[in-house]
Order: sequence, then C-alpha cells, then structure tokens
Amino acid sequence: ERADALPRDLDGRRIVVSAGGTREPLDPVRFLGNRSSGKQGYEIARLAAQRGARVTLIAGYTAELADPAAVDVIRVRTAQEMKEAVDKSAHGADAVVMAAAVADFRPVTVATSKIKKGAGEPDTIPLTRNDDILAGLVQARRDGGLPAATRIVGFAAETGDEYGDVLTHAREKFARKGCDLLVVNAVGEGKAFEVDSNDGWLLAADGSEHALAHGSKALMASRVLDAVTDLIARAGA
Ligand code: CTP
Ligand code: CA
Repeated sequence: ERADALPRDLDGRRIVVSAGGTREPLDPVRFLGNRSSGKQGYEIARLAAQRGARVTLIAGYTAELADPAAVDVIRVRTAQEMKEAVDKSAHGADAVVMAAAVADFRPVTVATSKIKKGAGEPDTIPLTRNDDILAGLVQARRDGGLPAATRIVGFAAETGDEYGDVLTHAREKFARKGCDLLVVNAVGEGKAFEVDSNDGWLLAADGSEHALAHGSKALMASRVLDAVTDLIARAGA
C-alpha cells in the first residue's frame, strides 16, 4: 500500500511495539532461543508510523529485517532486557503491542566460560521463569504506575489439542492476561480442527471476537492497528 493512501488516524499517538525472539544465554557462545521471525511486529511498527504514530520498536532477535522508516528501534537480547526496555518506553504510550516471542524460561546460571565435554558436564539445564512483561504492564496499570488509558495488546500463537480448540485456549489466555486485546494466531496441526480459512482471532475486552481470515502479515498488521486505533479512541486518551 502507498503511505500517502493510508489514513493518518494515529497522528499524535505514541505506540510501543515489541517484536522478535529473546535469547537466554547458557554460556558465552550458547543460548536458548525460539524461531520468531519478528516480521509481524515489524509490519505493525512500520504501518503505525505510516499512519502517523510515533513508534518505539523494541526488537529482539529477528530474521534479517530492515529497520522500518521513521521508527525508534531499541535492540534487546534477553527477556530481562526486553522487560526493562518495554517498561521504560510504556510511560506516555497510548498503546503497547507485545508481538515479541519472549522466552518463558532462562537458565538459572550462565557459565562465564564455555561449557566443556568430559568431567563435570551437565546432563540437565536448570531453568527459572522469566517475568511476564505483558502481565506486568497490566499490573502496573492496575496499581496506577501506568495511566488507565494505556491500551495493552497481547499476541498468542495457539494450537488445538485434546483439551480444546484454538479459540477455547485463546479465551482462557485472554482472561488470564487481562490485556485489552489479544491477537490470536492459529498455528500448527490443531488448525485442521478449526473453521476453514480462519487464521486467527481478535479478542477484545468488551467481549467481541473477530475472526481474522488468512492474509499477509501486512494485512494482519492493518487489521490489528484498526482495532488498536479504535481502542485508543474509546479510552478517550
Ligand atoms: N509475554 C510476555 N512476557 C513473557 C511471556 C509472554 O510479555 N515472559 C507476552 C507475549 O509477548 C505475548 C503474550 O504474552 O504477547 C502471550 O504469550 P504466550 O507465550 O502465548 O503466553 P504465555 O502466558 O507465556 O503462555 P504459554 O504457557 O502458552 O507460553
Ligand atoms: Ca510463552
């Protein structure tokens, strides 16, 4: 789409977007990571800037993506660094969009030198839970550390399983997280059990549920931003 054909409906707004995966170090050369490409978050950041927002993109590890034009990019490595950057940037933001794939766990200890084979080699890696950045934002807003009007958006990639379909899991996660909008991507094998051609859902705190039909990441980004723009307007910020 051409930038000059886009609405400037985010003029005067400030949006924080996280994208990509975090890497949790084991030793100087090894890490636990994930396969996030960061593409969806980058599209959202790029498009939000084109629609007039001042955008801060907090980027973990991504595929080789070019920095979006006119966006402030903050690079982070670990979940802890991402939390620090998000918490700092969230102040004064109209919306925080957590598209990042944050590692749930990190190794309890990071070896200062390379872990070697032989005597003393580990057979397990003790892990500890990383803070939930999204839940922390919701809590901060509840405690008055963030303005009540700050909109908080989560992402979830879900599969169906023997306990329920994608939407059932997504509703549970949404209720647990307490954010204003959950962008749900139906992924993996479970998708076969879902309604034809739906690639996901937008769940909003007012109880509305919109199916997201399959489309490009740019199209997904535009639908997500439509919903975010609407949320910001209704928050009366
Ligand atoms: N998230 C976060 N901090 C974490 C983990 C996740 O902010 N430590 C955010 C993600 O950026 C995403 C949302 O929470 O917006 C949902 O992530 P997901 O991994 O689907 O949820 P979890 O609560 O980690 O649940 P699960 O056990 O299914 O991984
Ligand atoms: Ca997780």
